[in-house]
Amino acid sequence: MPVTSRMDELRGDVSELARSATNSRDLMQRLCRLLHERMLKYNWVGFYMIEPGQPPMLALGAFVGAMTPHTRIPMNQGICGAAASSGQTVVVDDVSKDPRYLACSLETKSEIVVPVFAHGKVVGELDIDSHFPAAFTPEDRELVQHCAALVGKKLEASGQ
Ligand code: SME
Repeated sequence: MPVTSRMDELRGDVSELARSATNSRDLMQRLCRLLHERMLKYNWVGFYMIEPGQPPMLALGAFVGAMTPHTRIPMNQGICGAAASSGQTVVVDDVSKDPRYLACSLETKSEIVVPVFAHGKVVGELDIDSHFPAAFTPEDRELVQHCAALVGKKLEASGQ
């Protein structure tokens, strides 16, 4: 199947998942499983959610992949901190060249982090690592942003 129709099909399945998921936690878990299973280059897929406090921290939530030493990340550290504090998607084609990078696995070569917004505020993020360099194309960015947006909507719908 051509890449675009494979992506379109997955996008449809992701939207269906958002409709059928019972709550945001269920949606995040099932999204991690679906993306990890269906996208060969998505080798670690997980959510970090902002834990309010002084200082606020990113706390590891649902994920699929190897256990990471980074279960709590300060907002001013890592690619994860950069995406959450700026509210912008961050794509890193070669993590070894990015001084912000916090290593999770020696096999990771590239990474994408997309913030999750609820009621206009960043509440968490979807982080994906790949064993392949420059794995995240504009189509991947669009797919991952779609997933993050659906989680934001589900959080809003559940009053969070
Ligand atoms: N690489 C991330 C840390 C999280 S692990 O990849 C799962 C970062 O630089 O923030």
